[in-house]
Amino acid sequence: MESSFIFSAAHALTGSRTAVREAIMKNGIGTSRREFLRRSVMVAAGVTAGISASRASGDGSTNAQSTRVLFATDMHLMQDNALRSEDGLIAALQAIDAVRPRPDLVVCGGDLTDPSPGLDYAPAGKLLDRFFDIWNQHITIETHYVFGNHDLVGTKNPAVSRDDPRFGKGLFQKRLDLARLYYSFEKAGWRFVILDDVWPNPDGTYYAEYQADQLAFVQSELQKESSKPTVLACHIPAVSVFPALSGISKLNGSNIETASSLVSRNSKSLTDIIHGSAANVKLVLAGHLHHQERIDSDGITYLNGGAVCGNWWKGANMGCPEGFNVIDLRPDGTFTVEYRSFGWKAG
Ligand SMILES: [Fe+2]
Repeated sequence: MESSFIFSAAHALTGSRTAVREAIMKNGIGTSRREFLRRSVMVAAGVTAGISASRASGDGSTNAQSTRVLFATDMHLMQDNALRSEDGLIAALQAIDAVRPRPDLVVCGGDLTDPSPGLDYAPAGKLLDRFFDIWNQHITIETHYVFGNHDLVGTKNPAVSRDDPRFGKGLFQKRLDLARLYYSFEKAGWRFVILDDVWPNPDGTYYAEYQADQLAFVQSELQKESSKPTVLACHIPAVSVFPALSGISKLNGSNIETASSLVSRNSKSLTDIIHGSAANVKLVLAGHLHHQERIDSDGITYLNGGAVCGNWWKGANMGCPEGFNVIDLRPDGTFTVEYRSFGWKAG
């Protein structure tokens, strides 16, 4: 969220693991956090929104045939460990590394670093390298990256050259050696489609949209094996009730308006393709709003997955603690979702 753009990219990274710190959850989750995790809001009319509750089994186990996806989004690493963001990121990664059963893959939902849109190339490159150094020291799980608006470089800095190949999405794409910021892959019978829905404006702001080439790509992918259970992922959500319920949406005359920097401005184009293809799309993952939210509509679950950094490393964000999602995908196309705090104490 905030002003910037997104990046969507999938890439597998490996690295050496450092010490594994003992779990997360037993460290104090404050009263407000417990309350947050307890809440699960059901909204009528076929739409549910709220915090995904515990896995159905409730015992921390997972079916041996399940594929476990760790969805971690919005890390917002800052320069020089500002707000202890390095320490917080390390705590999150140690918690992820301690998850059992061990995740089969990680989907990283974007906003790896925080100030990059306002930086020049050298400091932005240094910060992004620092992020990957930390990540690879703590995580050896296959990771696929989505591009977030804070992964844009220089777009809010008028002094940097717009002609440099590192401008905008270039540095991220180059660092991950990605030919394209949207792509697909398969894991254990599930299909994953990563999209890039972040687009910069010349004035440094940004908006979210599914552009024509990516819509064609989604359609092509879904037509290949329409029965294959599928997960889509992007940074800015296709749909959210959070802007309205939190007051971020604004009243304009008699209308409530939600900016296209918060929610994609052409989500219907995506859902038209999904429903038109009769494909077996089960989940649409997103980050950006830093608030855990689940919306079930027409057989698809839209999961906006909280934030590793919570309120940009200043604590919980409107009740949503720093955390990540553990998602177990079953071969029959069903799944469970659990949002886990890692017990970070800001300040
Ligand atoms: Fe973010």
